Amino acid sequence: MTKRTIVAMPGDGIGKNVLKESVRVLDAVGFEANYVHGDIGWEFWCKEGNPLPDRTLRLLEEHKTGLFGAITSKPKDKAEAELAPELKDKGYVYYSPIVAMRQKYDLDICMRPCKTFKGNPLNFIRRGPGNTIEEPEIDTMIFRQNTEGLYGGVEWTNPPDQVYEALMTHKKFKENFAWCPRPELAVSTRILTKKYTTRIIKAAFEYAKTKGFNYVTVCEKPNVIRETSGMMLKIAQEMSKNEFPGIKVQDTNIDAQMMWLTKNPETYNVVVASNMFGDIISDGFAGLVGGLGFACSANIGPEVAVFEPTHGSAPKYAGFNPSIVNPVAMILSACMMLEHLGENEKAKRIYDAVASVVLEGKVRTYDMMKLSGNPDVFSKGAATTEQMTDAIIAKLK
Ligand code: NAI
Ligand code: MG
Repeated sequence: MTKRTIVAMPGDGIGKNVLKESVRVLDAVGFEANYVHGDIGWEFWCKEGNPLPDRTLRLLEEHKTGLFGAITSKPKDKAEAELAPELKDKGYVYYSPIVAMRQKYDLDICMRPCKTFKGNPLNFIRRGPGNTIEEPEIDTMIFRQNTEGLYGGVEWTNPPDQVYEALMTHKKFKENFAWCPRPELAVSTRILTKKYTTRIIKAAFEYAKTKGFNYVTVCEKPNVIRETSGMMLKIAQEMSKNEFPGIKVQDTNIDAQMMWLTKNPETYNVVVASNMFGDIISDGFAGLVGGLGFACSANIGPEVAVFEPTHGSAPKYAGFNPSIVNPVAMILSACMMLEHLGENEKAKRIYDAVASVVLEGKVRTYDMMKLSGNPDVFSKGAATTEQMTDAIIAKLK
């Protein structure tokens, strides 16, 4: 097989610490690839006025597969203040490079697995009958629509005439919001299209079918958000009936679902949701299986796919030498990349190695030991980022 080329985009802060660890694991498992470096993040905003330079976009267009660490974002005033002096007042506006990448390449299918590793001290536990303690085994894949909905970016403060007039044609707007002076009105839209809603639901059903799960849970709020959540539920119900007769639709409301997370999380295996609800529910599930040090994700479009941990750049830990952060979320993201590329056997070997290190419990990063993130964590027995990776590599079969 020809060697693959992966666009490696470490980004900022701890993105730089963890991405190189995932490449070490990929090398150790025998994945043959060239890695080309892609510039992304705060540094390029400051130096060039663009956090996602065109040269990085060209690399992604050419090679199609990206591994991404994390970036730093800051509020508008800070972004302007840190711009290179010669770029100031030239009309540069900061934008999130990861949101831009998702929209530009239609990375509409976001998959966020939340799976319990046995022996992880961060696993969720609950009271059982009598005085028992239960540790439910969670195996959930969240399918989050990644490009539309509340994060679609169609929004206004003081909406322009045409928008305002259109809103005034709606009975509810007229009744409930017409009193508000227009400059005091902020509107964020939640637009869903049938095409992309169908794509994310289909991805969820196909996954359920492959894994042998009988239910897909649509986690929305169709009783209140009737048009968009309603469309999502209806498409899912029709798909179940017409294309996946063995797989039933379960319908939960996002608010109730958050409560059920701590009640019966092990009963949800495949969850599908729109952009913001998917973001919420996936963080909720991640909290039950180890938190940000374990939360990986895939952003998959028709051509390009990008794999990333869901954590950010954690700037306060970026300068620690040696590095203290947990590389597992990034390493599991690399596993998802391998699966996407059809390298399932290698992905499983890495996954099993991570499981074995966690179960053994000898090597743990500071988060797994419930320590606060200080340079003294090593004296308390925590492993460095590199040691955690070494332990995983040593367990590769
Ligand atoms: P964060 O995810 O960077 O860090 C939050 C906390 O989670 C950290 O202080 C640390 O306690 C813990 N943590 C994160 N990753 C960890 C790891 N691998 N191992 C152990 N502990 C870990 O989120 P925060 O502090 O809200 O944001 C920091 C910066 O990251 C901001 O500029 C934000 O905009 C950006 N961000 C970027 C994302 C991305 O690139 N996709 C996602 C989220 C935030
Ligand atoms: Mg989030």
